[in-house]
Amino acid sequence: VNTNDTSMPHYWKYFAKGIEYTLIISAVSVVLGVALGTLLALMRFAKSKFLHAIAIAYIEFVRGTPLMVQVMFVYFGIGIIVNLPALLSGIIAVSLNSGAYVAEIIRGGINSVSKGQTEASASLGLTKTDTMRYVVLPQALKNIWPALGNEFISLIKESSIVSIIGVTDLIYQLNIVRADTYRGVMPVFVAMMIYFVITFILTRILNFYERKMKHAK
Ligand code: ARG
Repeated sequence: VNTNDTSMPHYWKYFAKGIEYTLIISAVSVVLGVALGTLLALMRFAKSKFLHAIAIAYIEFVRGTPLMVQVMFVYFGIGIIVNLPALLSGIIAVSLNSGAYVAEIIRGGINSVSKGQTEASASLGLTKTDTMRYVVLPQALKNIWPALGNEFISLIKESSIVSIIGVTDLIYQLNIVRADTYRGVMPVFVAMMIYFVITFILTRILNFYERKMKHAK
């Protein structure tokens, strides 16, 4: 684009667009991932052996294959039927991936509530559903919330893989800046710093709320 000014601030719009896409993909995917993860977690705790098996198979498979190949599979796979925009494919793939991880977060949170709590509720005559609703879940959420925050931070970093299908995220943009400026390292360094600033700020915010929650009854 510009053959004279190869300074990084000159390319701020490229990086800004990359940040925008990276944040959109991560934010949308973590929300959809939480919805899917909740469903999977419910299936895991369901009585039906069939639902249980499906949930476990899904979680195992998704966690056992690289996000990169999942992104490519969704993009090129759906591409056989309809021409899905890369951004949409990326969001679908990252969401499907996140759901499996969120399901494990929820399961871990529920299992972290000591068995004595359930037993005490049972001895008080609470039904299983009420025990889950009023005793286990409120305590489990204290562990689940912070972990979901971490999942969001993970997605900000992991979503960088969608650049391979041409989504104009931060990684994609840094490569454009590299090609345009003939500068090999500086754009990479700038993107790295941007990622760090974003995750650093988010971590502080999360820690703040986590501490607040610990003190709340
Ligand atoms: N890098 C790992 C992979 O390629 C993890 C991906 C996603 N992680 C997550 N928390 N959703 O499979």
